[in-house]
Amino acid sequence: MIEISATEIKKQKKLVLTWSITFLTVFPLLIILGLLMRLNQGEKISLGMDNFYVLMTLHGLGMAGILYSIAFAALWYLIGTRYAKLNTGTGYFVFFMVLAGVAGLVIATLIGKFGAGWYLLYPLPFKGTFWPTWATGLSIISLIILGIAWLIGIIHLVYALAKEFGGFSNLLGWQYIRKKEVDRELPPIVLITTVSLVPGVIAFIAGAVFLVMFLLQHFEPTLAFDPLLLKNLIFFFGHTLVNITLYCCIGWVYALLPEFTGRPWKVDKVVVYSWNATFFFILFAYFHHLYMDFVQPLPFQYAGQIASYLSAIPATAITMFGVIAQLYHSKVKWGVIPLSFLLGTAGWAIGGFSAVVDSTIAANKVLHNTLWVPAHFHTYMLGGVVLFILGFLFYLSHSKEEQEKDKMAKFGLWLFVIAVHSFIATFYRGGLRSIPRRYSDYGGIRIEYTHSTGALLAQIASVFIGLLLVGLIIMYVSIIVKLSKRKIPSAGA
Ligand code: HEM
Repeated sequence: MIEISATEIKKQKKLVLTWSITFLTVFPLLIILGLLMRLNQGEKISLGMDNFYVLMTLHGLGMAGILYSIAFAALWYLIGTRYAKLNTGTGYFVFFMVLAGVAGLVIATLIGKFGAGWYLLYPLPFKGTFWPTWATGLSIISLIILGIAWLIGIIHLVYALAKEFGGFSNLLGWQYIRKKEVDRELPPIVLITTVSLVPGVIAFIAGAVFLVMFLLQHFEPTLAFDPLLLKNLIFFFGHTLVNITLYCCIGWVYALLPEFTGRPWKVDKVVVYSWNATFFFILFAYFHHLYMDFVQPLPFQYAGQIASYLSAIPATAITMFGVIAQLYHSKVKWGVIPLSFLLGTAGWAIGGFSAVVDSTIAANKVLHNTLWVPAHFHTYMLGGVVLFILGFLFYLSHSKEEQEKDKMAKFGLWLFVIAVHSFIATFYRGGLRSIPRRYSDYGGIRIEYTHSTGALLAQIASVFIGLLLVGLIIMYVSIIVKLSKRKIPSAGA
């Protein structure tokens, strides 16, 4: 078993704090872009159509990128201080590459006005654009830089773990399925890290393929590719990235929750089978994004529905059951950390359920491209992933006792959670009322009921976004005050 020195732990702490401060700075700025979009849809401000799509692009790409990055950084920290030796130099290299990629995207969107949306639907970045071609080129190159950075990070982490635990199959827990006695217990965070990050490698490769095709067309505009192939590649990449961000967070819930409940949470056969099944289903669930593409081969559509249902069951059910088993009749003191984990799990369950509804072909016919779609992914990202991240940041900044007593942080968390779900409720209501997604405003819709309902819901949403920002600021104050006072932060310490 590996020994991690105090100096090494200190270095890893500095790295994770660098990531955390970046997250704490960028996240509220991206929320403000969301607020501006909702105010525009509510007809309270007038951004102009081009600016709306610029903000939507930066918001979508920025949120997906920053949440994945901090989720990865948190896993890196927990693994690097407990289970494997990770090179902090590589960690900083990844950090600065990500920063360079983000800077490129900010310039391409805010200055170049690149506005093709997060998924750059082909041939949108090249045909009839309102932005110059350099902005498309810079966006593509920035995304390639981000992909390479993340790939380097994943490969380093998984390789270090495989070296420490005696091979890749051990990381997937296969030793628990063999008849032999298991000589070294596998920490659940290691299993989940592998199940999250290895499909990530495949997704990033798919991302690299479509980005290189984009780059070729950027330099040689007479080239043209099959839009269906590109859509498959893009959604395989995008859907998998968002999925694995969530699973990365679940990794540290398995590792940290037991510190507050006093109950062990171990890997056994059931956990191995369910997470291995998830490894497989993660890769095929994305087909549900292409139901409306009638030229997609029919078996893929059915595969999409089946994989979407099946991917939701094993890891989700086992984790939900695990969280309940951890908490039920335990002596947990409801500090802000276990509270964030429990409320985040609830957000994951609610968002997951509405995702499954949307992935049902019969329901998708009605809900497709309505506000139901942002509703479901905002629920498990904002109401799930973000709460897991906040829980982790409290873990970094607060001691166990401090997080129990910190009433201000708990108030901020409750305000944030209530406002988040109220804000998202306006998306759900919009979806059920057939309000289309990705409309800069609803003024051009001839059905007056749809126009006025869309605008009203956006106005209500703006109030709740204001409230969730207040909750967030309260939590920020608590985290920053504690971080500035502590020399060696960690609730587990
Ligand atoms: C308080 C926080 C947030 C606010 C106010 C907000 C607001 C919005 C709004 C108004 C839209 C446009 C919806 C439409 O009409 O289609 C949107 C889209 C989007 N949001 Fe958020 N959002 C927030 C948090 C997040 C988070 C945490 C994520 C994490 C992944 C995220 C990812 C996205 C994505 C990917 C899109 C779609 C962009 C596209 O279609 O290209 N948002 N958001």
